[in-house]
Amino acid sequence: MDLVAADRNHLWHPFTQQQGWAEEEPVIIESADRCELVDTDGNRYIDGVSSLWCNVHGHRHPAIDVAVREQMDRVSHSTMLGLSHRPAIELAQRLVEIAPPGLTRVFYSDSGSTATEVALKMAFQFWHQQGERRTRFISLRDAYHGDTIGSVSVGGIDLFHAAYRPLLFETLHAEPGDAADMERLLGEHAGDVAAVIVEPLVQGAAGMIVHPEGYLRAVRELCDRHDVLLICDEVATGFGRTGRMFACEHEDVAPDLMCVAKGITGGYLPLAATLTTERIYEGFLGRHEEFRTFFHGHTYTGNPLACAAALATLRLFEQEHTIERLQDKIALMRELLEPVAAMPGVAEVRRRGFMTGIELEGFPVEARAGHQVTLAARRRGAIIRPLGDTVILMPPLAITPRELRRLVSITSAAIAEVVDASAADLAVAA
Ligand SMILES: Cc1ncc(COP(=O)(O)O)c(C=O)c1O
Repeated sequence: MDLVAADRNHLWHPFTQQQGWAEEEPVIIESADRCELVDTDGNRYIDGVSSLWCNVHGHRHPAIDVAVREQMDRVSHSTMLGLSHRPAIELAQRLVEIAPPGLTRVFYSDSGSTATEVALKMAFQFWHQQGERRTRFISLRDAYHGDTIGSVSVGGIDLFHAAYRPLLFETLHAEPGDAADMERLLGEHAGDVAAVIVEPLVQGAAGMIVHPEGYLRAVRELCDRHDVLLICDEVATGFGRTGRMFACEHEDVAPDLMCVAKGITGGYLPLAATLTTERIYEGFLGRHEEFRTFFHGHTYTGNPLACAAALATLRLFEQEHTIERLQDKIALMRELLEPVAAMPGVAEVRRRGFMTGIELEGFPVEARAGHQVTLAARRRGAIIRPLGDTVILMPPLAITPRELRRLVSITSAAIAEVVDASAADLAVAA
């Protein structure tokens, strides 16, 4: 079978301009080996963005493979609506143990978008059932919380979200990292606001925008003062990416609702969870005929295979001392990126833990410089993916120091190639 032709004839890739896709030679992944992906021609690439920010302990980790296989021998899927199952129960207990204090209830879904959608609906319905009509949310400019209509409503990236405005509910946007602006908005609108939703510490899809120290703590305090709920979307930052299990831990913040997905299964299977407090949970209790039920649930919510992968992933954090061992790699990454920040064509390197954005400058939009860098990196043996002209690096936490050196060296060579080619083009044009 001609896979390339079949891909071009039948597939529609996410976040992809198909016209451009069809003009390029696609990489078709056949297998993987720890932190490397292998294509159908046998070429090996470092997985520089953890397969869209979700792989944690490497691909085909024996412990996760075994856990999924063993679960498959018991049951692959059984619904959470009206039934329960062992992996979902055990995982909920484990998540509560490792989550910030006070988050004692776990509601499963299957993607980051659904985890935030659930948090928004829970916050709204909670207030409604308290007899308060709070229909607004505050989110941050350049926020990204997913692609479903609710999560897009609290999104703030015009390129992704502006086209859908007529379909969305209105959201108040605060200036990222600016506690005074959040205070102003809460002061003006607190009585109407159900919740503030933030990506704690780092706004990933905005291009790794890092908030100043103390901002998250200040937002927590402002929410408390105005009795507004705080939703922390840890979909990208969770499970070690910032150097702690959850980004909230850096500032001792416990949100009212916390969304997790991506790394929860080590990057194996789709699973998400929205964690919340007893206060919110109890706001939904009542007799059947009071209709205070949370009417939400997806078919594959809390899928047993995914829960088994998640339990194995969390066990590995302990067994392999993942967070402790990450600290030296974070320091190494900082060191390796210093010369990259000084390269021509690089405006800035933004970083927190393993989340890195290298912002390019001086290229016209149509040059697609970020994309060109990823193609050049691919030829050298690394898969990375840009956000516009910001080159993202976010390797699996299990990456070895040697692989990390190779990843940064490939990335800087790729940037140099694109900068040189652009300078040569300009010289020809002159
Ligand atoms: C902070 C954040 N929230 C939500 C999402 C959406 O997650 P998913 O793609 O699993 O729906 C993402 C995805 O990148 C994200 O970075």
